Amino acid sequence: MKPIDLRSDTVTQPSPGMRDAMMAAPLGDDVFGDDPTVIRLQEQVAALLKKEAALYVPTGTMANQLALRAHTQAGDEIIAHRGCHIYNYESGGAAALAGLTIRTLDSATGHLPLAALASEIHQTDDPHFANTRLICMENTHNARGGRVLDQAHVLKVAALAQARGIPMHLDGARLMNAAVASERSAAELAAPFTTVSICLSKGLGAPLGSVLAGSNALIQRAYRFRKMYGGGMRQAGVVAAAGIYALDHHVDGLAKDHKRARRLAEAIAEIPGLQVDLDGVQTNLVYFDLAPDHPLDHHNEAGENAFVVALQKQGVLITGGHGRYRAVTHRDVDDGDLEQSIQAFQTLAHQEAVA
Ligand SMILES: Cc1ncc(COP(=O)(O)O)c(C=O)c1O
Repeated sequence: MKPIDLRSDTVTQPSPGMRDAMMAAPLGDDVFGDDPTVIRLQEQVAALLKKEAALYVPTGTMANQLALRAHTQAGDEIIAHRGCHIYNYESGGAAALAGLTIRTLDSATGHLPLAALASEIHQTDDPHFANTRLICMENTHNARGGRVLDQAHVLKVAALAQARGIPMHLDGARLMNAAVASERSAAELAAPFTTVSICLSKGLGAPLGSVLAGSNALIQRAYRFRKMYGGGMRQAGVVAAAGIYALDHHVDGLAKDHKRARRLAEAIAEIPGLQVDLDGVQTNLVYFDLAPDHPLDHHNEAGENAFVVALQKQGVLITGGHGRYRAVTHRDVDDGDLEQSIQAFQTLAHQEAVA
């Protein structure tokens, strides 16, 4: 039987309607700037986020990296949260591709603490220091449980940034999840930021694609770097059509993913030896911890985690290890799959109890 795949919201298959839209898409050569479907998607996202322009790119990582490159010069510093994707999971791209150092600040919730931020910004002629040229945030914040940033707090950071003349970039890989969960428009969440990236291939279910939105000048710079980074695509409308379809048809479904994530989190919280911060489960990501002495919290010689493997034997795929694990709900997990997954967790707990 096919396992229930809770490893990520990136594992979804394009829906039948999406495949039809891809088949029917009018195409051109986007490097020559004449793919009508790519142009339509870029205009749609620019309008959705109320920005002047937008650029279609293959991945969320490329969207973020283009933003960093477009905003800065080599030798600059950016400030970002300690747990953010840009700092931890983009292969050191900020340093390798843009010549940046990253100054990190931490918090349990994914917010940038205001007092620390104010004192960590460098704007000086003293050549000892790299100057702060960009502040980055992530919404929802993946490694802090898929939490939605508190918009009042974001506005306070924005006021500080504006007072210092520093632009802000938002990694909005899951911005539509944040919008649905907070009942705010994507444009409102995007407003404090000069540039915003969104992913179409996560909860929205497109097979690939992200969009970077911002001012005409910054998107023009990002356009040049997209080509340099190898992201200039030809008949890209065939996949951009999936992105348009996702925005038109798959946003409302995110609320169901969030409801299922909560149901899963509450069920996991009931299982002895498993711990969930229920306050942090606000969207479709469920992070949980194994108690320090849990018998399955170890890796075998092949590097496989015992808890992950044991759950896989029960027909459910998750990721994690070293005490911290993640299960993600998405379009291809329905209520039946969810209940089956919960049963798998419970069966595993029972087996451990009698072992
Ligand atoms: C918050 C966040 N930003 C960016 C990315 C990068 O997206 P991609 O895998 O398309 O490069 C991810 C991927 O999981 C993410 O979670």
